[in-house]
Amino acid sequence: MSANQPPSAPSVTRLPGYTKADLEEILGTGDDPFGVAGAGLTWLPKEDHFGVRLDGRLVAHAGLLRLPVAIGDVETEVMGVGGVAVAPDVRGRGLAGLVLAAALDHARTQGPAHALLFCRPPLVPLYRRLGWHPLDTEVLVEQPGSAVVTMPLRTMVTPLRDTARLPTGRVRLYSLPM
Ligand SMILES: CC(C)(COP(=O)(O)OP(=O)(O)OC[C@H]1O[C@@H](n2cnc3c(N)ncnc32)[C@H](O)[C@@H]1OP(=O)(O)O)[C@@H](O)C(=O)NCCC(=O)NCCS
Repeated sequence: MSANQPPSAPSVTRLPGYTKADLEEILGTGDDPFGVAGAGLTWLPKEDHFGVRLDGRLVAHAGLLRLPVAIGDVETEVMGVGGVAVAPDVRGRGLAGLVLAAALDHARTQGPAHALLFCRPPLVPLYRRLGWHPLDTEVLVEQPGSAVVTMPLRTMVTPLRDTARLPTGRVRLYSLPM
């Protein structure tokens, strides 16, 4: 960018893919960029990716994946959201909200009535602010070797339609977590 050009306004685009290099462009090369290594879980890569570039640099990401789930005795699907990341030097400017809004706009076209994500407890207020609600029921997820484990992180949910009502009861994801 030349000295007399204003910085470009952030806008979200659908990314053709999302590599380790893309993640490192946003969060750097640390070995636990999401702070969840302590949970010891294996995670699924996401299928659809949304990103924000500022002056060509990838600074924010959110990923989406449609997943089978049982909630109580209702077998259904949810849109899993994961890999939410904003570069440290541009946090606190609404970029997580921006990239999540684009991901949820796409999620609304996919059919499931709810989106679900897992986060560390300190991030619950941030996601609440963005319209998500914590689930207080047990959430079971799969792990390699046919193991089914209780999700130790917080589970947050948001409706994708005005009329969506989440069934009550325990949540059982029929996949690795996203
Ligand atoms: C978590 C993370 C994505 C947030 O990115 P960010 O760009 O700073 O977030 P935003 O600026 O979009 O903030 C989102 C909203 O939460 C609010 N918020 C931020 N921190 C908050 C807090 N501690 N408590 C309550 N609200 C908070 C913001 O004010 C904003 O609301 P507003 O738009 O109404 O003002 C970023 O810190 C990050 O990449 N962390 C490392 C990776 C990670 O842990 N990802 C989460 C995986 S679940």
